[in-house]
Amino acid sequence: MKRLRIAVNTGGGDAPGLNAVLRAITLTALNRGFEVIGIRKGYLGLLDTSQLFPLTFDAVRGITHLGGSILGTNNRGNPLAVRVVENGQERYVDVSDQAVENFRRLRFDGLIAIGGDGSLKIASGLAQKGIPIIGVPKTIDNDLAATVVTFGFDTAVATATDAIDKLHSTAESHDRVMVVELMGRHCGWIALSAGIAGSADVILIPEVPFRIDKVCEKVMDREASGRHFSIVVCAEGATPVGGEATFVEKTDGREGRLGGIAEKVALEIEKRTGKETRSLTLGHLQRGGQPTAFDRLLSLRFGAAAVRLAEEGRWGTMVAYDPPEMTAVPLEAAVASLKRVPLDGDTVRTARELGISFGD
Ligand code: F6P
Repeated sequence: MKRLRIAVNTGGGDAPGLNAVLRAITLTALNRGFEVIGIRKGYLGLLDTSQLFPLTFDAVRGITHLGGSILGTNNRGNPLAVRVVENGQERYVDVSDQAVENFRRLRFDGLIAIGGDGSLKIASGLAQKGIPIIGVPKTIDNDLAATVVTFGFDTAVATATDAIDKLHSTAESHDRVMVVELMGRHCGWIALSAGIAGSADVILIPEVPFRIDKVCEKVMDREASGRHFSIVVCAEGATPVGGEATFVEKTDGREGRLGGIAEKVALEIEKRTGKETRSLTLGHLQRGGQPTAFDRLLSLRFGAAAVRLAEEGRWGTMVAYDPPEMTAVPLEAAVASLKRVPLDGDTVRTARELGISFGD
């Protein structure tokens, strides 16, 4: 059997479980006699070969439970569109041919790219340019349609649920409304799951445009029934009926950075109900720390499955979890559409049956 020389990178935002994937890829490959080279800092490492280093048994020892990534990551390095500013003018340059040339010169047989929607789209573009790639689905947002779940999501939900639990006691002792903003981009998976698990009173998700009067109605109904506090969980991508998503910044050609909707909602609730209201954004805490046992196992299984696909020569695919098995889906199809929360699904239905309002 051919002794494969496999490159590995992690692109986009980090997610708990990245190190477990790297450990599984490395051990599974080394135990087959393959060679594994880590690329630091996402796709930029394909342009700057000083970013390469061998992944050995020692390099991945004791990292399954660690957050972050021993390779680091980067959500700005796209070889198909590198941002260049000249004389105050910004433009995007395609340097992917150079990345492909480096890849060939380094005699790699293939690349295992661990990424979410954005970085797997880059992977798909590079695959079309001739780099043999296998994708591994990573994102706390759980928004990749081709896999039942992505790694990192379970940990983010656990962190967010813990935060909501903590908000309950302070909300109740002050008779306040607390509005907490959770990540997830344009999908409401984290807000929905943590909101239900943390017994929120209102959950606002991008899939259900909300009306602020309905949110206030829920708060006042609780007030009337002697519950003088409320917890509102707000996905960062939540939008009012007829309105738009709220961005912190919308600059440099990348998709803008979502954020600020919780503060807006909180101000409106206080103005309309007279109830003292506070807002907070949980932010990157959702991406940090140790992965849960579920995410560790999922990550290890994703990593091992990716090497099996490489061994079988099934480049151009992404590993997908289709319980109880791991499968492979074409990379292009894997990034074709986002997985949004189904409104007729059991989870939304359960939330409604528990009396949780979606502000609709
Ligand atoms: O995609 C993961 C994610 O954490 C989103 O939930 C969030 O909108 C975004 O990344 C934040 O990106 P950054 O790390 O650039 O602030």
